[in-house]
Amino acid sequence: MAVLAQLKETVDYIHSLYTATPTVGIVLGSGLGNFTSGMTVEQEIPYEDIPHFPHSTVEGHSGKLIFGQMNGKTVVAMAGRFHFYEGYTPQQVIYPIRVMKMLGVETVLVSNAAGGTGDNFKVGDLMIIRDHISFFAINPLIGKNEAELGPRFPDMSEPYSKELIAKAKTIAERLEIPVHTGVYLGVTGPTFETRSEYLLIKTLGGDAVGMSTVQEVIVAAHMGMKVFAMSVITDIGIREEENTITHDEVLEAARSAEPKLTAIFTELVGAI
Ligand code: HPA
Repeated sequence: MAVLAQLKETVDYIHSLYTATPTVGIVLGSGLGNFTSGMTVEQEIPYEDIPHFPHSTVEGHSGKLIFGQMNGKTVVAMAGRFHFYEGYTPQQVIYPIRVMKMLGVETVLVSNAAGGTGDNFKVGDLMIIRDHISFFAINPLIGKNEAELGPRFPDMSEPYSKELIAKAKTIAERLEIPVHTGVYLGVTGPTFETRSEYLLIKTLGGDAVGMSTVQEVIVAAHMGMKVFAMSVITDIGIREEENTITHDEVLEAARSAEPKLTAIFTELVGAI
C-alpha cells in the first residue's frame, strides 16, 4: 500500500480514539522517558494497536503514543522510538514522525543519548543540536518521493530551528542549567565507536555521536516541521584512555541527567 494511504488509515484510527489536534510532538531518547510525567495524559495508544505502525520483534510492549496537555499545548509523545539498528527500515524508523505531521504537529522536540567528542564535554552534560552530519545513517527519503509530503530534494540549511535554539538557551540560562551547542553525527550502531572512529568523528566536526535522531529530523525537515533537539552526553567515547563503554553506563548517565533535560523541554513547550 502506498505510504499516503497507510498514513490516512493510521490517522483515521488515532482520530477514532482521540480527536484533539496536537501541535507539538516529542520523541524521547534512551533513559529520558520521564518527561511524560509532567503531562496531563488524555489518551495512550499502544503501538501494536496502531495500523501500519512498526511492530517490535521483541516480546512485550513496543511502546505507545501518549496524548495530552503540557504547559498550555496539546502534545503527542512517543514513549519508545524505533532505531535502524533494531532492524527496522529507515521508512519504519520515521513513520511516526510522518504520522505526527498528519495529526497536525508543527514542532518536534527530540532527545537522545549520545557520546561526547566535543572539547570540555563531560558525562551528564547537555548539548543543544545546532546541526547534524548524516553521512553514516541511511537517508529515509531514498525511494519514490511523495510530493504531498515534501520536495524531492529538501533544503537542509536549517533543520534545527534557530528560533527554538535561542529560546532554549534563554530558558537554560534562567534555570541555571549549563548547555553546550554543537553538531550531532549520526551513525547506525549498534556498536559503539572504535577509538579511531571517535577521533575521526571529532575531526569531521561532530561534537556528539549517536544512533538515532538524524533520520527523524530529515523527515521532519522534508515535511516543513520545526525541530528542536538535545543530546544528553552519556559517555566521552574511548579515546586515548583504556576505558570501555557499556549500555548500562549510557542508560545510567541519561537517567541522572534527565531532570535537567525535562526542565528545559517543559519550559520550551510553553514557549513555542
Ligand atoms: N556512540 C554512539 N551512540 C551512542 C553513544 C556513543 O558513544 N553513547 C550513547 N549513544
